[in-house]
Amino acid sequence: MPPIIVAQGLSKVYRSGRIVVPALNDVSFAVERGEYVSIVGPSGSGKSTLFYLLGGLTRATSGTVLIDGVDFASLPDAERTAVRGRKIGFVFQKFNLLPTLSARSNIEIAYEISGRQSGGKQPPLDEKFLVYLAELLGIGGRLDHRPSELSGGEQQRVAIARALITRPALVLADEPTGNLDTANSDTVLSMLRRSNQEFQQTVLMITHNPEAAEIGDRILHMRDGHLLEQSSEAMSVSH
Ligand SMILES: Nc1ncnc2c1ncn2[C@@H]1O[C@H](COP(=O)(O)OP(=O)(O)OP(=O)(O)O)[C@@H](O)[C@H]1O
Ligand SMILES: [Mg+2]
Repeated sequence: MPPIIVAQGLSKVYRSGRIVVPALNDVSFAVERGEYVSIVGPSGSGKSTLFYLLGGLTRATSGTVLIDGVDFASLPDAERTAVRGRKIGFVFQKFNLLPTLSARSNIEIAYEISGRQSGGKQPPLDEKFLVYLAELLGIGGRLDHRPSELSGGEQQRVAIARALITRPALVLADEPTGNLDTANSDTVLSMLRRSNQEFQQTVLMITHNPEAAEIGDRILHMRDGHLLEQSSEAMSVSH
């Protein structure tokens, strides 16, 4: 099987008026199915830009991204949205939960939206799987709470359940522990690791925290829009 992510010569230049910001410069890498890859780098190094490009949320200035062999940029809008909804689960630093809905509804609605985007080809939501996920994530007793009634760590775990409910092949997480204290970060990281192992999901996690990055099978380092050396658990990493 081909790698689940293939990025080839990705560059992104932001232009606003006369200001030109080269945020990403000729980035190429591949991620194999089932891998947990961390991308670590300082603020402004282009991590979120890469995240948006990989998720098909913005267009590259040049270069290509193949997700599961599909080039999102080549698809019409509706189809791109459908394929993205089916294949990718997104986790954001700020959780992005809907504030007026319970945790359960936040998860359910993500599933419904994905179903609508794929033209109703999705089976009905398996409530048992929702409860299973919630229990795995330690929020089984919190499903009727609204985001404001949950701790930051619990909100992020709801956001992870929301990302996993469609059983995506790929989970993209941008600073999933960025707003959490150490204890909650550890929980969220081990949950992402567990879902990677239990559901054979590929996880690509972006972080500015070298310690959090260590959870990955492989760490890619970014600086100034470039990818630096690659390292694996077996190799020593100098920070
Ligand atoms: N929409 C935009 N318009 C113009 N410049 C942008 C835009 N988004 C990001 N940039 C610039 O591109 C560069 C990379 O930004 P990016 O958000 O990808 O960095 P990051 O590594 O995610 O940083 P952080 O760790 O702070 O989240 C920065 O110099 C940033 O100012
Ligand atoms: Mg960022």
